[in-house]
Amino acid sequence: MKIILIGFMGAGKTAISKLLAAKLHLQRREMDDLITEKSGRKSNWEIFDKDGELVFRELEIAVAKDLRSEQNIVISTGGGVILNKINIDYLRKDGIIIFLKNAFETSEKRLPEGKRPPLFRDIRQAKKLYDFRQPLYNFYADIVIETDTKTPEEVVEEIISKLN
Ligand code: S3P
Repeated sequence: MKIILIGFMGAGKTAISKLLAAKLHLQRREMDDLITEKSGRKSNWEIFDKDGELVFRELEIAVAKDLRSEQNIVISTGGGVILNKINIDYLRKDGIIIFLKNAFETSEKRLPEGKRPPLFRDIRQAKKLYDFRQPLYNFYADIVIETDTKTPEEVVEEIISKLN
């Protein structure tokens, strides 16, 4: 089994992937961490600041490619993974894509100001990204789960019930 979690920054992809992987006895892959490892930088912030978004996106594609033949994993993606279709082609091979859907305001609440990812530092820009990306998340998703009013445990239960 291979489960791919997609959704905007603050969707809870990391937290949900941890719970889901534990519950289903699957391994977990965090694309953002694999990207940082591959880059030789200390963080994604550093990649964005020193190399730029384009380099980050190239690394993201390389990581998606590395993951294409792995099985029995839950993959937590970065919010921009849907920007390059090639990522989805690699990731969805024998996998199921789950869109963790939330309102923009929920992302704002979930991401404390000091801990926001690079593309969330400017709120107005982030909202534009959010609007632009919603159709893409929907388009690529096999399953859509609304998370605004649910606890992580409830989200995981819903995922499992929809997988069956
Ligand atoms: C990004 C989201 C981040 C990370 C990078 C770019 C985006 O991941 O991949 O900062 O374009 O939405 P999270 O969604 O885990 O914050």
